[in-house]
Amino acid sequence: MRDFSSASATGSTADVFAGLERAGAGAMASVFRGTYVRSGRTVAVKRVLPALSHNDHVRQMFDDECRVHSSLEHPKVVRYVTHGRDDDGAFLALEWVEGTSARAFVDPERKLTTGAAVAMALDVLDALDALHRGRAGRLARVAILHRDISPANVLVGVDGVARLADFGLARAMCFARSTPPGTTAGKLGYLPPEVLAGRMHSTRGDLYALGVVLWEVLAGERLMGHINDHASRAAAFVIEPRRSLTAVRPTVSSAIASVIDRALVLDPAQRFASAVEMAEAFRSAVSRDEWSRGRDHLALAARGDHVRRARRRSSARSVH
Ligand SMILES: Nc1ncnc2c1ncn2[C@@H]1O[C@H](COP(=O)(O)OP(=O)(O)O)[C@@H](O)[C@H]1O
Ligand SMILES: [Mg+2]
Repeated sequence: MRDFSSASATGSTADVFAGLERAGAGAMASVFRGTYVRSGRTVAVKRVLPALSHNDHVRQMFDDECRVHSSLEHPKVVRYVTHGRDDDGAFLALEWVEGTSARAFVDPERKLTTGAAVAMALDVLDALDALHRGRAGRLARVAILHRDISPANVLVGVDGVARLADFGLARAMCFARSTPPGTTAGKLGYLPPEVLAGRMHSTRGDLYALGVVLWEVLAGERLMGHINDHASRAAAFVIEPRRSLTAVRPTVSSAIASVIDRALVLDPAQRFASAVEMAEAFRSAVSRDEWSRGRDHLALAARGDHVRRARRRSSARSVH
């Protein structure tokens, strides 16, 4: 049971956290690993980058993220611990996920087996199903769109379980509105075509973005990483046919490839209608053998990357 009284931890940084070490960074925030003094647990502490900490819009977004994340509780969503303010400003503390992010697998040397990719997909779909139906929260039943599904926002634990992270752009569905073309928030390579064209993000948009993530962890490369401005990205949908997953990696079965193809159809009406429908399609596309070994493969892949990064950190320490 979460201790709601801890939802506004304040004080000097040293009173709240111990042993903070920088662990990662995104476009707007830094993430540190440390111990939450009150519970003795290892946490990820997220803070707005110092260069942006005086930007009111960014501060408002971070407050929204803390509010949304603090209302969530689901086994496939990174667990909220507390949020508040200390000497270093506002922070959001989350349970530390020992493992890696799916970004590690977008690499020809480390791409996932089909079974591992399906295990990961089913975890994220489990989280999305609950979010989209307003069942991922402890409080009111508010349906939520994530709007920023990308490999870096899917954390894979050494236990072989994937968890959805980063609710920095998440919105209650009732507040979702369209944004003018060219101004959309979110990572360009994962934005659905309708959002790029200025239409509203939807549950099908989150499923599309997951389709891109799965294409990438199976191919071991970016799908559209080379296109980095809005206009060419939007045009690319019209001009170029999407690269076929089976052409890049012929050992992926046509059944799995066609589930991913359906998630990536340009017309949202032709995509999966819900996370549950997409999960069912994956379950029936995977062989019994792939199915039984998928979770173990995912755990092995996360452990492999975890160990590699730990070694890199310790050799960096011994050099300095
Ligand atoms: N709970 C966590 N456990 C372990 N690593 C984390 C955790 N939260 C974030 N990270 C790491 O920090 C990175 C950035 O975190 P994220 O919340 O996505 O920030 P941003 O909003 O800046 O993208 C993640 O991709 C991941 O590598
Ligand atoms: Mg992120």
